[in-house]
Amino acid sequence: MSRLVIEGGKALCGSISVHGAKNAVLPILAATVLCSDGVNVIHNCPNLKDVTVTIEILRKLGARVTRQGHTITVDARHRLRHHIPASLMQQLRSSIIFMGAIAARTHKAKISMPGGCELGPRPIDLHSNALESLGCKIKEKNGYLHVNAKRLKSTTLPLSFPSVGATENILLASCLIPGVTVIENAAKEPEIIDLVAFLNAMGASITGAGTSRIIITGVPRLHAADYSIMPDRIAAMTYLCCAAATGGSITLTNVVPEHLETGLSILAQCGCFIEATSSTVTLVAPPKLQAPDTITTAPYPGFPTDAQSLFVALLACAEGTSHVHETIFESRFKSAEVLNTMGASISVQDNHAEIHGVSTLHGRTVSAPDLRGGAALVIAALAADGISEINNVQYIDRGYDSLVTNLRHLGANIERK
Ligand code: UD1
Repeated sequence: MSRLVIEGGKALCGSISVHGAKNAVLPILAATVLCSDGVNVIHNCPNLKDVTVTIEILRKLGARVTRQGHTITVDARHRLRHHIPASLMQQLRSSIIFMGAIAARTHKAKISMPGGCELGPRPIDLHSNALESLGCKIKEKNGYLHVNAKRLKSTTLPLSFPSVGATENILLASCLIPGVTVIENAAKEPEIIDLVAFLNAMGASITGAGTSRIIITGVPRLHAADYSIMPDRIAAMTYLCCAAATGGSITLTNVVPEHLETGLSILAQCGCFIEATSSTVTLVAPPKLQAPDTITTAPYPGFPTDAQSLFVALLACAEGTSHVHETIFESRFKSAEVLNTMGASISVQDNHAEIHGVSTLHGRTVSAPDLRGGAALVIAALAADGISEINNVQYIDRGYDSLVTNLRHLGANIERK
């Protein structure tokens, strides 16, 4: 099992390019299942474990997939299978979005329940209720969901919560259904806009992405597209926090600054100088960070839950007391406890963290509790005095392509052992 060894205390400086978005590439790869005409070419795909598993799922379904550098091609022209085994489904929490795609393509699906519960319970009721409203009959038997999608029909689907995954599942299930399907209270995340842009590039007819009302007019078939995945906004925020926590100064290229707005406004409140162009962001950290206004996670355009742990780590050394409310996932403060072993002073009660800024963190041997919690420990270790060792790196690897190379390029003293 590899680990990260980090000697903290070096200000990160320089420029790096941000990789393609994990949460955009996964649904877009699932969407290729819908294409029965031509070969899809997808650029800017990050090199991540979840992408590898998604490719395995596509191959299991019968698609021909190639991967060269950051470009993936998917040929799904021939007859596809409808079954994804548990061994693959459970390696990937977002594998549930294949349910809508396979149902639309093969009119039946057999998939196991998706994996684990790293962030607390991750129910799929919004996904299955929506697909049932679209005419799917879903039965659960021996840990498998059996979906009969022989009689799909368009309808209006009001979501009780703007779930990202459920919105994606509905988009995938409905773009080939004749008539007009409407999603009310849809998720507005940039990754939804990216998926819709890809589907429209394949010939779908979808409007309203990025608003809470998405309108899908069914088309008879989809053709192949050549598409480039949007930049990863959470990876971007991670590198900005690394620079801010170490008193550094960095420029990120290949970003969409608008996607980072809530994070950038908190960083500005902390005293960072921020300058953005259409595709770059520059951050210069102050000598001492200040506690910002309360951070409350919320669906986009609110502050992203995925960036919450990163900012808790950053604020561990900010002057004053910071408050963070988590409203999306219940087990998202696991890394706070670990940060306390590094000298932070964070008290967590239910979904609220109170962070009393300390002057320094200290290097320790720690374990990543989950993907973003692991990234939070990297931020803390870079800022801490002394050497830290971070175990359970496999969690961090799920979300960051070339993390060590990028951080070394920015001057960090980091090694994978
Ligand atoms: C996606 C992102 C994840 C991000 C999250 C919220 C991917 C691969 N993952 O996850 O990184 O943290 O959006 O921005 O894109 N819920 C239900 N029933 C459901 C589905 C969800 O109650 O059927 C609840 C969840 O428990 C959670 C909330 O809705 O409390 C948000 O979940 P959702 O937006 O669906 O997140 P994911 O799509 O799983």
